[in-house]
Amino acid sequence: MHDARVQVDLSPLDETRFGVRSARAHVANESDLAIVNRFCLENDVTFLIARCPASALQTVQTMESDGFQLMDTLIYYRRDLHKTPIPADEGSVPIRPIRPGDEAAVVAIAVEAFQGYFGHYHADPRLDRAQCDEVYTSWAERSATSREVADEVLVAELDGRIAGFATLRFNSADEGEGVLFGVAPFAQGRGIYRSFMVRSMQWCAEHGRRTMIVSTQITNLAVQKVWVRLGFEPSHAYYTFHKWYDT
Ligand SMILES: CC(C)(COP(=O)(O)OP(=O)(O)OC[C@H]1O[C@@H](n2cnc3c(N)ncnc32)[C@H](O)[C@@H]1OP(=O)(O)O)[C@@H](O)C(=O)NCCC(=O)NCCS
Repeated sequence: MHDARVQVDLSPLDETRFGVRSARAHVANESDLAIVNRFCLENDVTFLIARCPASALQTVQTMESDGFQLMDTLIYYRRDLHKTPIPADEGSVPIRPIRPGDEAAVVAIAVEAFQGYFGHYHADPRLDRAQCDEVYTSWAERSATSREVADEVLVAELDGRIAGFATLRFNSADEGEGVLFGVAPFAQGRGIYRSFMVRSMQWCAEHGRRTMIVSTQITNLAVQKVWVRLGFEPSHAYYTFHKWYDT
């Protein structure tokens, strides 16, 4: 949008999925709020997803008294890939780039791994549970099939069966990002996630990126433990709010 600082846009993906007029916004300070609210009223938005830096506490408190409800906290970690060597992949399950024909297996893993996940969609009781699960499955599917969504997808192959996936993208000439990772329940606890992270760091470095970032819900301790062990450091955090304009 429109104003140089405020990002607010209609969200056709959410609208199709949840059947209500939807928008997404990034709110950086209090003056953004009025702009976002006006955009939503002018565009008949019912459901707004708004992210706000966790450091902007005054804005957060204004949002709280304006009907915005906290749905999750996203924490970002960053790794300087030059500062210390990338650790070795000690895993026993082979990791390779996705090949044509793997897409259905990736989607099937997303269905299992993200059922009832603790992201901002599932935290909102007004949203249909099955559609919340579907957010992750369709994201995995789009990542597996479109280079516009992911620049690379890695898969793990355990006994001839796809056991997990990792989607990666370039954010800039300097930075790569690990985006959506899932390991099938049958294969969890064998270090596949750690292997994905090491291979993702290698992929970023091989493509000339100096840093890699990752993010997750602050309650997802399993992945944060792996990141810290691999040399990632906490970087910044966002709160995710939902606002319903029909209440
Ligand atoms: C999180 C996830 C990717 C971990 O995959 P994995 O291959 O089982 O992970 P690893 O075997 O490499 O284990 C990593 C660490 O997390 C721990 N861990 C794995 N699953 C866990 C769980 N459900 N709860 C708590 N800790 C868990 C492991 O014990 C290990 O820690 P340890 O060395 O102290 O034992 C997998 O459980 C998953 O797909 N979860 C659902 C989707 C998700 O959270 N994706 C990541 C965010 S996009």
